[in-house]
Amino acid sequence: MKTRTIGAGLVITGLMGLLSSPGAGQPPAAKDAPAVTHAVAVLHPTKGNDVKGIVRFTEKAGVVEISGEILGLSPGPHGFHVHEYGDTTAVDGASAGGHFNPSGRPHAGPDADERHVGDLGNITADKDGTAKFRMTDRIIRLNGPHSIIGRGLVVHAKADDLKSQPSGDAGGRVATGVIGVAKPEGQPK
Ligand code: CU
Ligand code: ZN
Repeated sequence: MKTRTIGAGLVITGLMGLLSSPGAGQPPAAKDAPAVTHAVAVLHPTKGNDVKGIVRFTEKAGVVEISGEILGLSPGPHGFHVHEYGDTTAVDGASAGGHFNPSGRPHAGPDADERHVGDLGNITADKDGTAKFRMTDRIIRLNGPHSIIGRGLVVHAKADDLKSQPSGDAGGRVATGVIGVAKPEGQPK
């Protein structure tokens, strides 16, 4: 009995020591993960469509360059957005949610002062249904509150009119993908 009391006393003393010494009991200071500079999304067709492609994102000096090739589209413009969720489980793409809009702005075109972060406007397919494009955007980011990492990338059946609320009247979702961190170019795969 006496031994137990001493034992408990030692435990309490030990805990108090932990609580009183600064930094004790806390994990070692975590190193910040390096900034993401490259991202990629692989687009897969939604049910009844045959649209697929790869889109790459590169962030440098506060601007994100977006380049990609998307196949199997109808000729002409197609709405192209970052949506809130990187969830492609629904066969019609609905699980990606609405446009990524962390700052609560109205839907608009990519050059508008007030827009959804995810408003990337349109991509345009040629007569063969291929959209090959390269653009830059000053609103999306691969880091911080405007980061699109883990969000959904969606291509629509119709053109985004860049003004109708809440999503530019761009019609159904013909392809969806998840934006993930990519290995920077020049590093071995
Ligand atoms: Cu969209
Ligand atoms: Zn929008």
